[in-house]
Order: sequence, then C-alpha cells, then structure tokens
Amino acid sequence: MARSLVTIEDLSNQEIEAVFALADEFVAKLGEPGRPHRVRGRLPLAEDVVIATLFFEPSTRTRLSFESAMHRLGGHILTSADPRTSSAVKGETIADTVRVVETYAELIVMRHPWEGAPAVAAEFAEVPIINAGDGSHEHPTQTLCDLYTLRCEKGGLRDLNVVICGDLKHGRTVHSLVYGLARFGARIITYPAKGLELPQHVVRRLRDEFGGTWVRADQIDELPSGWLPGNGIYTVPDQLSLGRGQAESVHEIFARHSPFKTIDAVYVTRPQGERRREGEAGAADYPVVDTSFLKERRYRESRVMHPLPRVSELGYEMDVDSRAIYFKQASYGIPVRMALLAALLRLRPGLLAEGPAAGSAPPHVSRGGLTCGNEACVSNQESERRYLKPKFKLLGGDPLLVRCHYCDHEATVACVGRADRKKYDTHASRVGSIPAEELVLFASESAAREAGFEPYRTPQRAG
Ligand code: NCD
Repeated sequence: MARSLVTIEDLSNQEIEAVFALADEFVAKLGEPGRPHRVRGRLPLAEDVVIATLFFEPSTRTRLSFESAMHRLGGHILTSADPRTSSAVKGETIADTVRVVETYAELIVMRHPWEGAPAVAAEFAEVPIINAGDGSHEHPTQTLCDLYTLRCEKGGLRDLNVVICGDLKHGRTVHSLVYGLARFGARIITYPAKGLELPQHVVRRLRDEFGGTWVRADQIDELPSGWLPGNGIYTVPDQLSLGRGQAESVHEIFARHSPFKTIDAVYVTRPQGERRREGEAGAADYPVVDTSFLKERRYRESRVMHPLPRVSELGYEMDVDSRAIYFKQASYGIPVRMALLAALLRLRPGLLAEGPAAGSAPPHVSRGGLTCGNEACVSNQESERRYLKPKFKLLGGDPLLVRCHYCDHEATVACVGRADRKKYDTHASRVGSIPAEELVLFASESAAREAGFEPYRTPQRAG
C-alpha cells in the first residue's frame, strides 16, 4: 500500500525531519544567492513521472506551488482546477474519480470541500494521495511549510512560544499546525476571534494524545512565578476569555503573567467566511495583527506568519516590517513540496518507512448504528453514502469516545451492541468481550432498540 499524506499524523517526526533535510538540500542547490528560500532551476529527479492535481476548491499558492515543485523536479503534471469542468458535477464519486486518475498519474494531490475526502481517495487509490486541504479539517502540507519556515528562522521548534490568531474553528491550516507544533515541543497560545475557538476535539487531542497542559486564563495567576511547561508541552490560556471585546486581551494576560517573555511567532489566519454555517459566530471583533499589536518588547524577535490569502486581519504596513515572513513562508512551499513529492514517489528511497503509517490501526466500520455528526464529513454526502460506511477509531473511556476515521470529529457512544446476539449494553466495558466484527455502536439507547437490540441485563427498577 502506498504511503499518503492525509493528515499530519501520517508522518512521524523522524519522517518530517527527513523531508526537511531533503528540502535543505534543494534550498542549498537551487536557492537564489542571498534569498535561498526562492528556488530557481530544476533537478531532474522525476523526469519519467506524471502527477495530477484535483482541486475541487479555489487555490493559488497550494496548487501552483505543487506544480512548480513538480516542474522543478523535472516531472510532469496534469491539472483539474475547476470543479465545474470535472465529472463531480455529474455525480461521480471520489472513489471512482481517483481510480480513473491513478491510471493517468503516479500521485494525486487533492483539495476538496468535504472533510475526509482525501482519506477516501487514499482508501481507493493505489497511488499516494496528498491532502491539499479538506474543508475545515486539515492542511498538512501547509503545516510542513510552516514548520520548515519556523525551523529555518528560529533554528529549531522545541520550546518556541507561538501565538495563533484568528479563526481557529474553521481554519484547516491551524488544525494541522497545532498538532505539528505540539509534537515538536513548541508551546501554543491561542488567540481566537470570539466564537471561533479551537474545536473541542482538537483541544482534547492536544491534551490527551500530545501530552499537553491546558492552562486557562483564570488559572494563570495561580501558576508559580516564572512557571513554564516542560518540553513537549504546550500552554493554552483559556481561549474563551481571550477574544477581543471580552474580559481580557492576550496583551493584558501577558502583562500580568510572565512565562511568555518572548513570543517567537505570531501565526495569523483569515476569517473562513465560506465555511461558516447559518447562525454560527461571525468575524466580529476579529483580532488584527499590525505594528500596534506587536509593539511590546516580547514581540521584538517574533516572526509574523500567515498561510495567505489575507483579508483585513494582517495590516499591510507589516509588509515592510522585518518581522514579517509570510512571503518567505510561501516561497518555502516549493523546496518543501519538492521534498515531499520525492519522498512519496520514492525518488529518494528511505525517507519514509515502508508500509502503512505508524499507529494506523484498522478503524471500526459502522454496521448501521452510528453515523458521523459532522455534516461536512465525506461520509455524510449523498453520493459517497452509496458505497462508503462510516468508520470510527475507538478511543476508550466510559462512555466510549470515538473519532470519525474521515474527519476526526468525536462523539460519545451511548451503548455498544453485539450484532449476532442482538444485545446492547450501556457500559462501554462490554466492548472488550465483543468480537470486533460483531460490534455495533449506537448514539442512543432508543437507536439500539429501534434496530431490534435488547439490553444485556434488564435495568434494576428503583425502589
Ligand atoms: C489556506 C487554505 O486554503 O486553507 N491557504 C493556503 O493553502 N495557503 C488558508 C486560507 O484559505 O485561509
């Protein structure tokens, strides 16, 4: 099975380092004198290779940088950039599209509005799939560019203090980035616009799976003076009380408490208006990063980053400020994507381990009980439901916590059932004694009963 990059978790830290080392090589060989982030010319590593980009959503940087990267490797590229001219408008499924396109190309780069669409592509294609952004879910190649840029600018990632501003709810670049930062031992300080905080499932993962310490703003005063979390641990002051127009601004909190004497980077993101559903919080009181935001001493050595495009959250006066590195960040997209393509296409063997990504245990396939609660999830789309079954990773706990295999949204399961016996139990501990192929998960007891399941034990009547 080919290795794909669907989420940033598909690459181990060691593999990310190997990709970065190859990007360093490209920068050294092709970088312009004095401006090494701008690569020019070609290295003929992929002369016999064709890749395809399938973009079902607008893009400038990501698609063009993949195309530039492939040309600079001496390879060839097919592009489908306008969803109106692809067979998706005729109702073609993702599974069928990629099984056709893989006969034309050795790798597929896909951007899609449905969360988990590239995961479906990776399930059905034999060639590597690269996720170039799926809805609000993830954008792992942007994260590789972001981490690489930070590493070039700051010499490493461990112990960096990184403020992440803006729409942390819908921003897919943010969701991949926080995992990457946490894994490399940076600290994250969130500064969301009001109502656009990091999703709960992202916060939970940072805390429970990445060994993070979650520090709320109202706890900051209780911390011992000079306290800083140790390596590999990030700190997130309570997002809810950090939004503009709320009790305190990020500056007030920093002024009162000093663990963050220096801020190494401020990562700015735009309001993702196109992802907002009716009735959801808008972009009111959206944090704007400009010279006045950055006037304190702690920002003196900061790097200001943005995945771009910007709207009005990043002042144009910043363009002439030496701390602004967002155009450099975009340029690094070429050597990093060249290195990623070389790794996944095995043009340079040994960069990535063989076989499936580490830690990718087969998920539970829903047998009709549970569906994903995220309406943007690929598993909830009419065309894809014809062949796709919801799948979940079982995370444990009681009640049982599960994560959608496609979009990573989490849900608790009200009861677990055993298909061959048509029995269910509200205690998650029952899972251990149910064979995997007989396990059925239900969001509610009534759903279990409606499916014809009976409780294992008749509940005791009170009194
Ligand atoms: C981002 C994206 O598409 O998610 N852009 C990019 O790929 N550099 C950020 C955004 O659109 O806000």
